[in-house]
Amino acid sequence: MSDYKRFLVTAALPYANGPVHIGHLAGVYVPADIYTRYLRQNGKDVLFICGSDEHGVPITLKAKMEGITPQDVVDRYHSINKDAFARFGIGFDIYHRTSSPIHHQTASDFFRKLNDAGEFVEKTSEQFFDEANQQFLADRYITGTCPHCGNEKAYGDQCEKCGTSLSQMDLINPRSMLSGNAPVLKETKHWYLPLDKHEAWLKKWILEDHTEWRSNVYGQCKSWLDQGLQPRAVSRDLDWGVPVPVKGAEGKVLYVWFDAPIGYISATRELTPDWEKYWKSEDSRLIHFIGKDNIVFHCIIFPAMLKAHGEYILPDNVPANEFLNLENDKISTSRNWAVWLYEYLDEFPGKQDVLRYVLTANAPEAKDNDFTWKDFQTRNNNELVAVLGNFVNRTLVLTQKCFNGKCPAISALTDYDNTTLGEITAIKSRVEQSLETFRIREALNEAMSLARLGNKYLAETEPWKLFPTDPERVATILHVSLQITANIAILMDAFLPFTMKQLRGYLNVPEMSWSAIGSVDLIKSGHQMEKPGLLFEKIEDAQVDFQVNKLLETKKANEAKEAGLAPAKPVISYDEFSAMDIRIATILEAEKVPKTQKLMKLKLDTGIDIRTVVSGIAEHFEPQAIIGRQVTLLANLEPRMIKSIESKGMILLAEDNQGRLIFVTPEQAIQNGAVVK
Ligand code: MF3
Ligand code: ZN
Repeated sequence: MSDYKRFLVTAALPYANGPVHIGHLAGVYVPADIYTRYLRQNGKDVLFICGSDEHGVPITLKAKMEGITPQDVVDRYHSINKDAFARFGIGFDIYHRTSSPIHHQTASDFFRKLNDAGEFVEKTSEQFFDEANQQFLADRYITGTCPHCGNEKAYGDQCEKCGTSLSQMDLINPRSMLSGNAPVLKETKHWYLPLDKHEAWLKKWILEDHTEWRSNVYGQCKSWLDQGLQPRAVSRDLDWGVPVPVKGAEGKVLYVWFDAPIGYISATRELTPDWEKYWKSEDSRLIHFIGKDNIVFHCIIFPAMLKAHGEYILPDNVPANEFLNLENDKISTSRNWAVWLYEYLDEFPGKQDVLRYVLTANAPEAKDNDFTWKDFQTRNNNELVAVLGNFVNRTLVLTQKCFNGKCPAISALTDYDNTTLGEITAIKSRVEQSLETFRIREALNEAMSLARLGNKYLAETEPWKLFPTDPERVATILHVSLQITANIAILMDAFLPFTMKQLRGYLNVPEMSWSAIGSVDLIKSGHQMEKPGLLFEKIEDAQVDFQVNKLLETKKANEAKEAGLAPAKPVISYDEFSAMDIRIATILEAEKVPKTQKLMKLKLDTGIDIRTVVSGIAEHFEPQAIIGRQVTLLANLEPRMIKSIESKGMILLAEDNQGRLIFVTPEQAIQNGAVVK
């Protein structure tokens, strides 16, 4: 860490086509935030860059579905996501956006420079085209069957079921997302980045020079490199994106994965006139925090772009997390299977650190992991409340009680006091070791061991029992405990920034630098502290049950959708319901209405009258077969003339997802006119 003069930390730019959820936080933003906070505590010169990725087909598709413009879509989610990150304390120096003019300019310049230098190859090939809509069908405009797992809803660039990255031509039975038709092939010209030409240096740079990268990252790169790299198209036939900045490229834009990573550069330009210092000097260290689906873009393609450009540094590390599942199921925006950050903020106000803690303690660093509400509760109650909160609270409350909130002076330190205090430095260096190798989850566990140490110290010294007989010893114990507490306030600041700020308030101390950790003189004898409150509170079963139920409802709604059932209707009042006069009636006569397919004329005994009802059931029942049957009738529906017959009321039938109809018949014979209520 020490050889670098400055740090440029980026976090993947989330697509502005939906709200961010816990998977985003756990995968990228919390670890990146912890790391940059740690650097800042060490007084490092660091920029933390992020923003919205506002191009790409999912955004235009969403706009089309909602009948709004792509700009409307990205405006909405840019502000929702920017706000959610800020409220979770993710301390970006800038949260920029790729629809901004400075980004368009930066991306265009970048492309032009590569184009002028002959770094692209131009190639004409056949691409899918939708004849009904007269447009090319880039990326996700095509769906079809995945050749690997048979998923019928695979996208043109990826199968979300098995995770394979695909090209449109791989799909079996491709369909246009616009018309649903089979697409035709049509010739079009595109620019390609010849990755094959970059293969040799990439191999050396990653496989030999960066053996320290996480094994999931290294492994994915190795597998790409071993398979041999192919030229990649960096333009698309689309009208939303950065226009290809050369003559004769009307209707073409830069591929979203070409412009988005340049977004890190344009954001830095927007942030500071000194941006080149961060991007173009070898004594800057560039770190990309990403999710595993972004590995190839950040480790192979973007570095190849940077190298081809020639002026930029390459990333020194690319810590990529695996995925976080939710209650044993893949997080999915389209299936609404997620914990949305804006919802969490409403439902657990002031508990941002609890989520930061749980997502870090259970971070999917080496493998996919599962978030469950039960685990959330357990970690809160057994770790944050029972360990960290408990230690701090006992220390502060006892100090209030015994010494009116003034840090007492030490008399003599025992060996046990000394070994306990000595542990702080050892813990500090283990946390450093872990953070600097991007093992954030391990770092948190190490940091928590200081709170565990404090708890053990109090449990063994039992100052609450000693005060009447040995106030001097109690003074020493609390003095030691207060030093541990103040060290925790620094050590855990990057992980739990809201709580540690609160703790500094109780201790009445300012922010302190990382190098102060290990000092046993952070709180001076006689220092006056504030009356403490609680750092954490228990999460009750009812809160967990509420969340689990919400997910069960989502699951049920998804199953209903998959089963082809009609969605639920809005709630009505009791009055609206009781306005309906629903009764049992018997079919007295039935005949098909001549010259129609579907209609049947029925004569009914409703108990209150004999009436005629025309019903669209002729394709489902034979007239003779239903005579004498009891059915359910909505009796006060406005009469209607159907084929010159006055129809009074409507027979109720149940329809399944195959369109099969059955009568709603009372389970036993009952008087005609009996009211259904
Ligand atoms: N929007 C992409 C995603 O959510 C990430 C883009 S990262 C960048 O997967 F480098 F391209 F900006
Ligand atoms: Zn698949």
